[in-house]
Amino acid sequence: MKKLLITRDIAAPVIAQARDLFDVTVHDGGALDATASAQALRDYDAILPTLGDDFAAPVFDGDLRCKMLGNFGVGYNHIDAAAARAAGVTVSNTPDVLTDATADIGLTLILASARRAGEGERMVRSGAWGGFGPKNLLGTHVTGKTVGIIGMGRIGQAVARRCHFGFAMEVVFFNRSAKSVDFPARQVDTLAEAMGADFVVVTTPGGAETTRLIDKDALAAMKSSGIFVNISRGEVVDEAALIDALASGAITAAGLDVYENEPHVPDRLRALENCVLLPHLGSATAETRQAMGQMALDNIIAWARGEAPPQAVN
Ligand code: DGY
Repeated sequence: MKKLLITRDIAAPVIAQARDLFDVTVHDGGALDATASAQALRDYDAILPTLGDDFAAPVFDGDLRCKMLGNFGVGYNHIDAAAARAAGVTVSNTPDVLTDATADIGLTLILASARRAGEGERMVRSGAWGGFGPKNLLGTHVTGKTVGIIGMGRIGQAVARRCHFGFAMEVVFFNRSAKSVDFPARQVDTLAEAMGADFVVVTTPGGAETTRLIDKDALAAMKSSGIFVNISRGEVVDEAALIDALASGAITAAGLDVYENEPHVPDRLRALENCVLLPHLGSATAETRQAMGQMALDNIIAWARGEAPPQAVN
């Protein structure tokens, strides 16, 4: 039997199916650092890793037993897929199954940051709420506003659809390549144009090409009434510049699901009232996480049968 390492506890039915087909170890010590990943690549035939596990280029040096990384997650910027390929290791991911759940978190953050839901919740829980007031915690209207989508891939389109059909918002988007979509949305030529929308939602993939795409200059293109949402990867945004913009009032609010150095969230960010902070919940529904596990395992099963994994990325 081939040896399979699953680096985090995932849905029980997926683990049960894996145990029928492979000699399975479920790692229960949190994310794999580079040393643990390098060792795992020597000890196992296949690995089902996820976000936080360190599969940067150096871990692929030398003779590896492992030939398949079936990543749990659509984003795989924690894996150097080119270095893996050079070492003869196939990498797959889990697209589509998490698109709706992640787009829903985008809308959660748009609404929560615009309507000051975090502040309101803290007020009620702390006993500080003095009752209804005509000027109490006034937020920003969402319906009919403009949304700027940064990265019009699957998740960007799902957010845009929700904004258009659910909230009558005008959609503009910035995308590296030309993209046509089947609902009203206008592609703009510059990042700055999209950043000038009432709401900006970042949905690009992570990785070298998008690191710090949203820098100080991009943030400076936002309106002072603008609200910024990031559901992609923390490193896409210059976090210090974002904190400055929020603290100075250069932008009104932000809703974040991802951070530059997860799980570290800077004290300055946590101290800001005008920021809704979620712990990377994009795909976190039971149904979605089970589907992600199943897709990751299905790719590993295909590889074990000598077939091409359907969601291979390298
Ligand atoms: C992904 O799939 O890339 C998510 O960020 C993890 O849920």
